[in-house]
Amino acid sequence: MTPPVENPAAGPSIFSGATIRDAIRAAGDILQAANIETARLDARVLACRAFEKSLEELMLRSDNPADAAPLELLSQYCARRAGGEPVARVLGIKEFWSLEFELNDATLVPRPETELCIETGLELLRDSNCAAPHILDLGTGSGCILIALLSELPEAEGIGIDIADAAIDMARSNAAKLGVSDRGTFYRQSWNGDGMDFGSFDLIVANPPYIPARDIDGLAPEVRDFDPTLALSGGNDGLDAYREIAGVAPAWLSPGGFLVAEIGDGQATDVAGLFEAAGLSCAADRQRCDLAGKVRVVVAEKR
Ligand SMILES: C[S@@+](CC[C@H](N)C(=O)[O-])C[C@H]1O[C@@H](n2cnc3c(N)ncnc32)[C@H](O)[C@@H]1O
Repeated sequence: MTPPVENPAAGPSIFSGATIRDAIRAAGDILQAANIETARLDARVLACRAFEKSLEELMLRSDNPADAAPLELLSQYCARRAGGEPVARVLGIKEFWSLEFELNDATLVPRPETELCIETGLELLRDSNCAAPHILDLGTGSGCILIALLSELPEAEGIGIDIADAAIDMARSNAAKLGVSDRGTFYRQSWNGDGMDFGSFDLIVANPPYIPARDIDGLAPEVRDFDPTLALSGGNDGLDAYREIAGVAPAWLSPGGFLVAEIGDGQATDVAGLFEAAGLSCAADRQRCDLAGKVRVVVAEKR
């Protein structure tokens, strides 16, 4: 029996008596009716969490009657997803660099393109034979960048700063859960440099807010309505954070150290210009592009 799906807000009864297969199908129908593009995929991801099983395990048990508690959870997840909330927000978790990060209202959902910062940072450290690097993550959010780097570099230590208290709480908790809290320390601190004296760093990474303020209203609702504005808005031209970072990063970099910054579409020339004007050196061949061929990462070196 496939349960009726017409009203996602109706609560757990829409799935009652369902097998696991029925429940997943009903969840997909609800999300499709709500015009969610990835309805079937999202239904499976939400079901895996609700039933606390991998997709393979769920499929093996698909003809079993589903228990009431996971059905109710799945129903709640579907109602939220049908209301436009991204899956990562509904579940409060996101995979990044094959690690699972918990999220709260103060943290951006980590984006796949930010993994380019990790790849770039790892390459630069490897090429400069830096065995035990000291790393600074500006605007750490969930801690995803610093924690991913520390997970790859057993000898590295790092500091993550963010202006949002709740983001720092989340980053600390993620670092503990992912086993790097002995090497990663997180502070509530602005990157404007006030009161900051943490020594010098071989690598500074930053994924700052870079959306021009006038573009925020036009963002996809899943971003605009659920990611924190503090993590998105880069001021009038989107470059405010880079100006502040350019003002402080040269003093925090060790000689030969690198600043790796994620940027928004079309910002490479301006951001590189800001870093060069601050005395850093930005080689064009060190920039990294995303799969669409757009420059997403600018690298600056302290010579
Ligand atoms: C685009 S998010 C990046 C979060 C995380 N690093 C990631 O890549 O998913 C930018 C982060 O910068 C933080 N932020 C905004 N203004 C800041 C400031 N003046 N000083 C420090 N952090 C700031 C925000 O709270 C947010 O967590």
